[in-house]
Amino acid sequence: MPVGSNEMIAEILPAAVVAVEARSDPPDVVLFAAEQAVLGRAVAKRRREFTTARDCAHRALTVLGLPPLPIPSGPRGEPRWPMGIVGSITHCHGYRACAVARASELLALGIDAEPNEPLPAGVLGAIARPEELPQLCQLAHTTPAVHWDRLLFSAKESVYKAWFPLTRQELGFEDAVLAIDPRAGSFTARLLVPAPPAADVRPRTLSGRWLVRDGLVLTAIALLAPAVPIALAVPDE
Ligand SMILES: CC(C)(COP(=O)(O)OP(=O)(O)OC[C@H]1O[C@@H](n2cnc3c(N)ncnc32)[C@H](O)[C@@H]1OP(=O)(O)O)[C@@H](O)C(=O)NCCC(=O)NCCS
Repeated sequence: MPVGSNEMIAEILPAAVVAVEARSDPPDVVLFAAEQAVLGRAVAKRRREFTTARDCAHRALTVLGLPPLPIPSGPRGEPRWPMGIVGSITHCHGYRACAVARASELLALGIDAEPNEPLPAGVLGAIARPEELPQLCQLAHTTPAVHWDRLLFSAKESVYKAWFPLTRQELGFEDAVLAIDPRAGSFTARLLVPAPPAADVRPRTLSGRWLVRDGLVLTAIALLAPAVPIALAVPDE
């Protein structure tokens, strides 16, 4: 089976994206020196997650035809992709994944994985806006197998991972209002803060998809590149 062709997260990403995921940590992964430097004195759990996710990233870039290249981290923790590439990384208990695409096809990518479990006590109040709560209550009533509070959290993390590399601007959990479509397996984030004027792309909404399977909540945002040059365009999503 070719790498990236049968991954669960690929189901919620467009065909232009190469995704590679892992459920365990291979023992023989070799990191580049610039990647080792990111780890510093990190604890074993962080080392395992980082190393396997970087291995997923290396393999995904190979599928795109790139030679082996390091993926260090920027000052805000963002992965620094090779020129002409966009991508995103996630890791949680029992799951690591990377998604990459050519920047000519996608402007931004954000992926996130979480356990399909309730958020710890007190977290929902910190990450949800008041107008998001009624929908979560209704969905919890109609479809209790999905932990919608966790899905909201994951979707907001995907929003941030797509937003930050585009704008270089922080985004708080209160800075976006999410609407989840349970039938379509999608969501839309309406951004309540403008991107800085200097950003090439200043999205006002970001749309994504979600999937709940095998004990995981997966969310993904893929912002397609417009067919025309973007210098004058302000895409809505
Ligand atoms: C950065 C953040 C989104 C990571 O999410 P997480 O669920 O804690 O962890 P995940 O394992 O899913 O993702 C971690 C990966 O995110 C990526 N990441 C970290 N900072 C990033 C940034 N500024 N931009 C893009 N990607 C980033 C990295 O690849 C990181 O893995 P690595 O350090 O091994 O390279 C989260 O810690 C955070 O800071 N959230 C606050 C901002 C936010 O989510 N706002 C909501 C806006 S609506």
